[in-house]
Amino acid sequence: MEADKNLPGAPDSIMQYSLGYAPLLIINAAVENSIFDSLDSGPKTAEELASDSNASLRGVRSAANALASLSLLNKDDFGAFSLTPESSKYLVSSKPDFLGPMLRHSVQLLPQWMKIADVVRTGLPASPVNNEATGGEFFKDFVEALFPTNYPTAKALGEYLEISDLLKDFSVLDLAAGSGVWSIALAQQSPHVVATAVDWKDVVEVTRKMVRQRGLEKQFSFIEGDIQQVDFPKEQDLVLLGHILHSEGAERSRALLKKAHGALKPGATLAIAEWLVDEPRVSPRRAAIFSVNMLVNTEHGDVFTFNEISGWLLEAGFVDPKILDCPGASNLIVAVRA
Ligand SMILES: C[S@@+](CC[C@H](N)C(=O)[O-])C[C@H]1O[C@@H](n2cnc3c(N)ncnc32)[C@H](O)[C@@H]1O
Repeated sequence: MEADKNLPGAPDSIMQYSLGYAPLLIINAAVENSIFDSLDSGPKTAEELASDSNASLRGVRSAANALASLSLLNKDDFGAFSLTPESSKYLVSSKPDFLGPMLRHSVQLLPQWMKIADVVRTGLPASPVNNEATGGEFFKDFVEALFPTNYPTAKALGEYLEISDLLKDFSVLDLAAGSGVWSIALAQQSPHVVATAVDWKDVVEVTRKMVRQRGLEKQFSFIEGDIQQVDFPKEQDLVLLGHILHSEGAERSRALLKKAHGALKPGATLAIAEWLVDEPRVSPRRAAIFSVNMLVNTEHGDVFTFNEISGWLLEAGFVDPKILDCPGASNLIVAVRA
């Protein structure tokens, strides 16, 4: 295959980002037009794909060729397209690892990202989602999409805590629970897990649904409200903070860790799932870019280093903060209430 040619004198490092938004949008368009779903039953030409997916031949041909250039489809010498192992696993809607809802969410963020020049100038988001008025609606449509990405990590946390060996009740406080993925994975590992899920009212509806779908109602109770304001139950065996510090920002996170400390028994565990950034704050790239996502969408949100979060944990009265070695795209930190 011929390599991309460049404008004379234009650096590849910049030119590769011209139309940099296009791959996400093309993949999402293919998901929405069932192109990957259609190919799940076998290779198809553009004509066959168009008739199977009800999309235009011109549209399908162009999108499928671009997807082949992105290595998300194969194209044979006779013009037939087929799935790659990656697109077969992650882009077919019937597969358990389907990432379509995540991609759709990224597309939904675009109108806010379009305002980024102003956001960088002012340091203020156009429409922050870190409050119930806008955040409830925003997250209720999104948290379910996070379930499959966090579930393997949540199961690994259960193994680390030896949840399946429990002989008596073990109370779990799942803060900013979203889909409830963290506490659901633990509740599935032992009937002794007794979980309280806290989130904004609109989102708790989703948590309830996810719990009900898995037949775990007897193990769960729910608190609707803002995690900074509602009273937490006391004497908990475990507090979970799944992907919430980044939208709260440094000061509110420090306050939240102190409040979480007050909810735990001595010797009990706090677990934090987060996108950690390395010390110079430039890698991994996903974390550095996620920091800008927080700039665009929240008032104080950011990504943090392990040292920053460890410092807040020690300040709040926790000991022994460490990163668990477990599957998942983000990091899992655990610490113990002294
Ligand atoms: C990125 S999602 C993470 C959900 C889940 N913990 C996970 O790891 O998949 C953030 C969640 O925090 C909730 N949230 C954000 N700020 C909150 C606040 N101040 N009070 C209550 N819930 C909040 C959102 O509604 C959303 O469910």
